[in-house]
This record gives sequence, structure tokens and C-alpha cells, in this order.
Amino acid sequence: MTKQLFIATYGCQMNVYDSARMAELLAPLGFVQTQTPESADLVILNTCHIREKASEKVFSELGKLRALKLRKARRGDGRMLIAVGGCVAQAEGEEIRHRAPFVDLIFGPQTYHRLPEMVIQVLRANGAAVIDTSFPEEPKFDHLPSSRPEQGVTAFLTVQEGCDKFCTFCVVPYTRGAEYSRPVSQVLDEARQIIEGGMREITLLGQNVNAYHGVGPNGEEWGLGRLIEALAALPRLERIRYTTSHPRDVDDALIAAHRDVPQLMPFLHLPVQSGSDRMLTAMNRRHSVDDYQRIVGRLRAARPDLALSTDLIVGFPGERDEDFQATLDLVGEVCFAQAFSFKYSPRPGTPAASATSQVPDSVKNDRLARLQDVLAKQQLAFNQACIGRTFPVLLDKPGRYPGQLVGRSPYLQSVHLMAESINIGDIALVTICAASQNSLSGTIAR
Ligand code: SAH
Ligand code: SF4
Ligand code: F3S
Repeated sequence: MTKQLFIATYGCQMNVYDSARMAELLAPLGFVQTQTPESADLVILNTCHIREKASEKVFSELGKLRALKLRKARRGDGRMLIAVGGCVAQAEGEEIRHRAPFVDLIFGPQTYHRLPEMVIQVLRANGAAVIDTSFPEEPKFDHLPSSRPEQGVTAFLTVQEGCDKFCTFCVVPYTRGAEYSRPVSQVLDEARQIIEGGMREITLLGQNVNAYHGVGPNGEEWGLGRLIEALAALPRLERIRYTTSHPRDVDDALIAAHRDVPQLMPFLHLPVQSGSDRMLTAMNRRHSVDDYQRIVGRLRAARPDLALSTDLIVGFPGERDEDFQATLDLVGEVCFAQAFSFKYSPRPGTPAASATSQVPDSVKNDRLARLQDVLAKQQLAFNQACIGRTFPVLLDKPGRYPGQLVGRSPYLQSVHLMAESINIGDIALVTICAASQNSLSGTIAR
């Protein structure tokens, strides 16, 4: 008998990858995914703990699910199981149990391969919650299904997980655990599956993806650069991307891959967080502003058409006006094609949360608005500079209007075009004729 499964995914791409794997794991138990929670037999919230807002969202969602669960039971429509997975579950498993006792299942990012057993256990337990937020010795990847049945044009492939860097603002080392790299053969096998499924683009994922150091076929260690070269040798894989990288782990082989591997797209997300050395030290980033600029210079020398995006935090404890100005200066010098910027959010258990020099919210708001104004202008300028250029665009979905398709440029910009003889999954040469801050439009090049 089929049962309905609804998964809501929050946070980073690694959670998107994990949610897809959870659905695959549960398929043998008869679970089929649905797009709404209303009639679901199992609802999974795959959560994110990175900032307070993300984390609090879980509890408001749980409030709504509780009402649905009660309604379903009252209808005599069977039991709705509610599960919380991901990083909030890992960090606040006990709190969830207390604040939301109607939750049936709590599991962390490293134990979701046990979901089928956990679901069976909870159905038998008849009321009692099942919690598993351990960090197992054996990596979950060794227990995930080897198939990748999902449809589409682009796929995520997690190659590395966890983080040993302990930036003083960040929960990830606590929620995802220690750094781990999957063996090369496992990654290549999964990539082959993805390509056989018809996908054209793979984005390699990791919290610190360029810290990748997987065991190669002969027992030697491979870095990300070498892995990318091996992936590029697989037939029919048109595009390779990777995210998120750390400036400390950009090595010569990775820079060489940007120069030598045409499938590696010329767009790199390289978080810098701040343009002030004093802040970078307090954040324990272990690189200076100058280090960052030198790395960017080397990457651009290797791949002159490379565009960059980044992450920035404003209002980290102790940030003064001159530190913030240094961030604006760095942004002005590097020129980002795109960027994410955040107000510092104190996270329980992280060193910066207990610093006495917290920045008032009004100052954070002001700095964020000023920074975002500059970033928006840079993004618009980058997009406008694309007008008249011709790009290969990977078409990945239908547009809003009949005959319209939407795809991605090498720089991950959305490109809208009208096209008749072209299909989703094709890579078309498109000449860009208009640009806004968030997207481009173009016509097929003759
Ligand atoms: N591994 C990546 C980032 C993961 S988190 C890296 O090393 O850069 C994604 C982004 O969230 C971070 O780059 C940072 O800008 C932001 N972030 C993380 N913790 C935060 C916090 N406590 N407050 C505000 N932003 C935060
Ligand atoms: Fe968090 Fe820093 Fe690790 Fe990135 S490198 S995941 S910001 S601790
Ligand atoms: Fe969030 Fe966990 Fe990713 S905290 S950003 S879902 S690693």
C-alpha cells in the first residue's frame, strides 16, 4: 500500500541532497512523495540551524503540523507521523522533544540512513518518540541506496561533509560533525548514475568542499582538483560546479582545474565574511584579507572569465565602523557577481555568542542595508555587462509564458528565452539582450 511522504527542506544544498536521499530510502516502505503536508502519512522537516530565524521557523512549522496531525486523527484517517531531521534536530533534539512532544521522530544529518528502521520502530512504539542524533562511526554514505532515480537536468552530489574549522560564529562543526570525504570510487559511481539518468550538470557539495581529501583507487589521497579532472573525463557530463569552498583550501590543483577543465563553470562561491583582518581573526577564519585577494588574483589569472560570489556577515561582535568600511572596500575591489549577506546571529554554544561586545541590532540593520545596496549594484552591473554576449545556456525548466524556457548561464544567472525547437536539458547558445538584477533574457544565437 502506498503511503504519502511530505518533506520540507530548509537551509543549504546539502539538505536538498539529503532530502532526496531520504525519499529514496523510504520508497521501499511504500512512501511516495507529495507536494503538500495535508494528507501525508509522514512529514519530515529537514531543518537548518545556521541563524536564529532559520531555527525558529521549525517551531512555527511544527505548530501548524500539530493541527494537521490532530485533524487527520479526528477524521479517522490514520496516524500522521511527524519527523524532524537536519541541523536543528541535531543541535536541539531534547528541546524539540519538550517543546513539541507530538513529534514522533528526531534524527540528525548523520543518521538519516537509519530512517526506514526508525519509522518501523515508531509505528511499533505506538506513541513514544524515537531519537537518533548520534555520530555513527560508519559513514551514512556506505548505507545509502546506490540508485539516483530523481529526474531533472542538474544534480547535487555530496562528496564531503562536516567541518573542522570552527569559525567562532558557526554551528556547522557541531551539527554536521567532523570533516569526512567520500572515497573517489563512490563519488564516481554516483556521478555515473546521475549521468545515466540524463542529467547534464553536477554540483559537488560539501560544507568545505575544497577540503575534500578522498581515498583514491590506489589508496592515495585525492584533492578536489583531481576529483574534478576525473569527473570531467566521464562522457556526457557537460557542466561541473562545486560549493561551498573555503579560501584556506584553495590549492594549486584546484586553480589548475579552473584553467584546464572546460566543464568546470567559471563561477565560484568563495565566502570571505569580512574585509577586516581584525574581524577575520576574531572569527577564526585563519586567512587575511590579503590572502583572499591573492587567491582571487590567482584564480582570475588561471580563468580570466571567472566570476565570484561570496558570503558576508555584518555586526560580528566587536565590529566597528572602520571594520565595516573595510568590508565595503573589499567588496569594491573584488566586485562580486552575486553575494549573500547576513546580520550576525548569535548561536547557542558558539564562542562568539558569549562575546560581550555584541553590536546593537539597529547598527546591524544599517550596515546590512548599506552593504546590500552596494552588492545589488554590483550584481546589476555584472548582469548588464552580459548584454550582447553569447553564452551556452542549460535549459532546465519551462517559463511562465507559453513557449518560454528558463535556463542557467555559466554564471548561474537565470536566462529567459522564447524557443520552439529546443528542449529542457539542451544547452543552447543564447545571445543576451536584456538584464535585470536577478535575471537575463536572450535569443537563440544564429
Ligand atoms: N562552509 C561555508 C559556510 C556555511 S554557512 C564557509 O565556510 O563559508 C553559510 C553562511 O552563513 C556563512 O558563510 C556565513 O556567512 C553565514 N553564517 C554562518 N553562521 C552565521 C551566524 N551565526 N550569523 C550570521 N551568518 C552566519
Ligand atoms: Fe562554518 Fe567556518 Fe566551517 Fe564554514 S568553515 S562551515 S563558516 S565553521
Ligand atoms: Fe543549515 Fe545545517 Fe546547512 S545549519 S546551512 S542545514 S549545514
